[in-house]
Amino acid sequence: MTATILVVEDEALIRLTLRERLAGAGHRVLEADTVAAALPHVRDGVDLILLDYKLPDGDGLTLMKQVREIDADVPVILMTAYSSIETAVEAMRQGAYDYVNKPFNLDELMLNVEKALETTRLRREVRAFRAGQGRPYGLDSMVGEAPAMRQLKEMLVRIAQSPASTVLLTGDSGTGKDLAAKIIHYNSARADGPFMNITCSAMPEQLLESELFGHERGAFTDARNRKKGLLESAHGGTVFLDEIGELSPAAQAKLLRFLEEKSFKRVGGSEDVRVDVRIISATNRHLEDDVKANRFREDLYWRLRVLCLDLPPLRDRHEDIPALLDHFVQVYNREFKRSVTGIEPAAVKALTHYAWPGNIRELRNAVERAMLMARGDVLALGDFQVVLPGEPVAAGGFRLPSEGVQFEDLERDLVVQALQRTGGNQTRAAALLGMNRDQIRYRIEKFGLAAGAAPEAAARRHDAKGDRDPVSD
Ligand SMILES: Nc1ncnc2c1ncn2[C@@H]1O[C@H](COP(=O)(O)OP(=O)(O)OP(=O)(O)O)[C@@H](O)[C@H]1O
Ligand SMILES: [Mg+2]
Repeated sequence: MTATILVVEDEALIRLTLRERLAGAGHRVLEADTVAAALPHVRDGVDLILLDYKLPDGDGLTLMKQVREIDADVPVILMTAYSSIETAVEAMRQGAYDYVNKPFNLDELMLNVEKALETTRLRREVRAFRAGQGRPYGLDSMVGEAPAMRQLKEMLVRIAQSPASTVLLTGDSGTGKDLAAKIIHYNSARADGPFMNITCSAMPEQLLESELFGHERGAFTDARNRKKGLLESAHGGTVFLDEIGELSPAAQAKLLRFLEEKSFKRVGGSEDVRVDVRIISATNRHLEDDVKANRFREDLYWRLRVLCLDLPPLRDRHEDIPALLDHFVQVYNREFKRSVTGIEPAAVKALTHYAWPGNIRELRNAVERAMLMARGDVLALGDFQVVLPGEPVAAGGFRLPSEGVQFEDLERDLVVQALQRTGGNQTRAAALLGMNRDQIRYRIEKFGLAAGAAPEAAARRHDAKGDRDPVSD
């Protein structure tokens, strides 16, 4: 990466040495021998400043203060001939990125320079992301400041802006893999291209292969026409393969070939189709176990893992819970046209200690339900139906009879009852069952409870304008 580096140094020989070395590494070098000469360059914008401590018209620390006011992100490496601890400490305290003692080792300095430039790049990227606030799936739609989350967000930024063609997202159910995939897509150069999402477990093996890669006319009995697959339709965009562990061996082989050669053949076809898409895959299972059990190709596993992001479970970042609760109160205020102002402190405390096995999805559903139940403008603990530690699990719930149950019948029956009780209101019926609306809609369709309901398509298309509801799954 070529950067613009400002060298502020009154000794011409040192300037020359630095210029040769930095220019040799491909950077553009600007020089100044006084504070006064340096400032205009800083105003024009530089990526890094190498700053001598003692200058004819002032000291480095004074200049650093002025630099901070002009550009808070640019790193400064202070060079000092006086190896006093106090100067160093003061420099770092005032926000120097690093300092070196003269005479310095050029190789070491160059390492520091590259590290500092990487920092500038990241700081600027994060800032640009934040500036894009309000944009659907901006970085700020992912709530969480726990160290693991900060790191994750930094990685999301870098990945989004990199040309990397594959990303693997791992993490328990409800930790935000879908959200992370959309953040990557909508903050990348592909944002105006399509985002296609397919849940590999939701489809029979053979169908999945032709959904992904398309098929030629006559490839199988029902194939009356040639059909484009998801990969082709997503040209210029992103394909999100959810539950990748469920891919059939044939689809795994095809995907691997695609990742390596950027081309594939449609089912029943011989022509090589080339497309430009980024593949984001996700799994909440341990793919290594599938590899060991020979259910998942090891070569594909390693190919997918090149860039892997793990989403931490909520129990490992309790500190984020209050902010998440607030976030979803705001989300449902907008959705339900309510004006709930917050949650009682005692409730926040109790909910912060809850383990949230269903992670953020469970927390979101709990807030949704509480907002549907609560009458006042402040939510109380009683409005949340989570089982807190110390309470008996499934109190008043079902006991599995010794002869067992027909689970599907029971499920259907509960959905019917919930709909009857709420006069057919799907949102409230869903809340009664601890589901979201998608989940109840899915069951309404599955059990044929809505007149004229079409079976749900397992592949969903999200184009640049569609599906931007931050609370939909
Ligand atoms: N850090 C977060 N901040 C705000 N909302 C979040 C965050 N993480 C997830 N969500 C929301 O929580 C819900 C569940 O997240 P998501 O669907 O992304 O989980 P998932 O990891 O894909 O789960 P599964 O493995 O079950 O598919 C979504 O509504 C998502 O928008
Ligand atoms: Mg998901």
